[in-house]
Amino acid sequence: MAGRGSGRSRIVVLLFHGNFTDTDGNPIKDAQVEIWHADAAGFYSQYAPGLPEWLFRGTVKADENGYFEINTMQPAPYQIPTDGACGQLIGAAGCHAWRPAHIHIKVSAPGYQLVTQQLYFPGDPHNEDDIASAVKPELMLDVKERQDGEGNQVEYNYVLAKENESK
Ligand SMILES: [Fe+2]
Repeated sequence: MAGRGSGRSRIVVLLFHGNFTDTDGNPIKDAQVEIWHADAAGFYSQYAPGLPEWLFRGTVKADENGYFEINTMQPAPYQIPTDGACGQLIGAAGCHAWRPAHIHIKVSAPGYQLVTQQLYFPGDPHNEDDIASAVKPELMLDVKERQDGEGNQVEYNYVLAKENESK
């Protein structure tokens, strides 16, 4: 997870928001989003020295209508660690160690199936050659500029299946 940052540090505010519904379209009011991501230079708290312990890590609960809203900042790409066996493998394969910028998400609600995912930003230079080969079209965020000029926003809606329901 943690490696070398990108060295970039342009701060871009990101509003990440959306709704939780079940597969019948009913709101799920007791859902929650756990989010964690790197900072604007590609570093994770709890791995890179000098960052506050819980920087860009948190849990946000949906309101009574199933709506959630997270105000954060866009992460930067980073390189995975290249020491040890992983580094030897990367070197032998002639690959680089870059991952595109992404946010980690885990969403849950009592009685519903858990969803974990990584979400990506259009235009990242490493979307096409991610060392983890994890980028998929359905995981690409629809990033829009905020009308107030205060950075970007993304709407991302979750339809959760019940525990005993096939997806
Ligand atoms: Fe990551």
